[in-house]
Amino acid sequence: MTARHCGAIVGAMLLAGAHPVPAQQPDPAAAARLMDELMWGREPVGSPFTLTDHTGRTRTDAEFRGKLLLVYFGYTSCPDVCPTDLQEIALTLDRLGPAGDAVQPLFISVDPDRDTPDVLARYVGLFHPRLIGLTGAAEKIREVALAYKAYYAGYRPPDGGDYVIDHTGFIYLMGCDGDYLGFFPPGTPADRMAAIIRAHLKE
Ligand code: NI
Repeated sequence: MTARHCGAIVGAMLLAGAHPVPAQQPDPAAAARLMDELMWGREPVGSPFTLTDHTGRTRTDAEFRGKLLLVYFGYTSCPDVCPTDLQEIALTLDRLGPAGDAVQPLFISVDPDRDTPDVLARYVGLFHPRLIGLTGAAEKIREVALAYKAYYAGYRPPDGGDYVIDHTGFIYLMGCDGDYLGFFPPGTPADRMAAIIRAHLKE
């Protein structure tokens, strides 16, 4: 999975200075456990949240009732997977046309130290005018991510440089009443997502 089309833009956003590495280090067992829970539906997925959007406004899950939500966890300096998937999410909205107004995409940052509202605002604007970026206190983000079975952990690459964050890239589809409907694996093309979402919009 590559995103050469966004590479230059994302590269330009890697200008950040030294940041502390987030406390949690990669933990393959935790990643596997969360994926297992998600894949087999062993645990409920999703949770209420109160976070800050890319304009600095407080947003809660409750205000999106009546819309389908596409929820994606990632971070703005992600080198490849995030830009690729966000690009597909944006294309999905375009494919849906006017019906896409009933779908709200959310990009929740797992890198809240670096992804301030301002940074998020510049980033989401690269993909789609309706994409909402969300950030917040690290503990709050961790709580929401765990509820979605989204794994992430920051580490400093062996060749030096600023830390990167290993993270799962599922795109969650939440129903109009906030219930979890399912997930799209990373790399799902826009046409496929649009076809599945269209079916839910008719329900
Ligand atoms: Ni990413």
